[in-house]
Amino acid sequence: MKILNLGSLNIDLVYQVEHIARPGETIASSSHQVFAGGKGANQSAALARASASVFHAGQVGPEGQWLVDKLAGLGVDVQHIRFSDIPTGHAIIQVDRHGQNSIVLFAGANAQINRGAIDAALAHFGRGDMLLLQNEINDVAYILTAAAERGLTICLNPAPFGPEVCAYPLERVDLLIVNETEAIGLAGASTLAALAALCPRAQIALTLGAAGVQYRSPTEEFHLPAPHVEAVDTTGAGDTFIGYFLQGLAAGMTARESMARAIRAAAVCVTRPGAMDSIPAANELD
Ligand code: RIB
Repeated sequence: MKILNLGSLNIDLVYQVEHIARPGETIASSSHQVFAGGKGANQSAALARASASVFHAGQVGPEGQWLVDKLAGLGVDVQHIRFSDIPTGHAIIQVDRHGQNSIVLFAGANAQINRGAIDAALAHFGRGDMLLLQNEINDVAYILTAAAERGLTICLNPAPFGPEVCAYPLERVDLLIVNETEAIGLAGASTLAALAALCPRAQIALTLGAAGVQYRSPTEEFHLPAPHVEAVDTTGAGDTFIGYFLQGLAAGMTARESMARAIRAAAVCVTRPGAMDSIPAANELD
């Protein structure tokens, strides 16, 4: 099975702060670092670190070459990433002393991918392959529909959540992965039952941060706890979980096995700074 991830690539500008700035407040940061990020790129990186065969499609601007090189260095196939004159997407991230974050996104090139590029990438994939989507690029509904019509298995992580997600063809989703905020936005409640009403035939993973993950499919339902760790930076933890979880499923693990490993990977991720750089390799989980 080949996995196509059509998603964002961002330059993450990370500021370490005592607390997240409140409205009207100006605060000092104690450090500033630049990391590779973007929910799409992070999830491709996690898939590759978990040893999946993953193709990333998306768009960067002239200053985004290093992001593409970084993904390629991790083993991601980058032949479907386009370059444009539009600035690369970036994220301004505050990380507080508890490792919690607050993110402001500038979509840039991520939000101006043309349909020709989308169709050209999808043309290389078909039945038996998987498409992974987040909500940081344009035309998500179009991509989801086109990929479903080509027979791809559809995995949707509707993050960051916006009201437009409710109009996506969710009934075509095979695997839905959401956190509590996204679940409430989408279904009005952070429960598996509410989500299943929207995506009746899907496998659903509801991530609960330090409280673990709930899972439901048409045939089983369970909860797995997360190990307690001292968080340094939670950025990218959800992306790490998704990459590892999908790779496990694609490799034939049960949902429970795959999810247990993905939770361990996410727990390691939060003990390290940065997004893509904090994703562990598979051999670090044993
Ligand atoms: O999920 C974490 C990511 O969200 C960051 O890397 C940032 O780029 C934003 O897209």
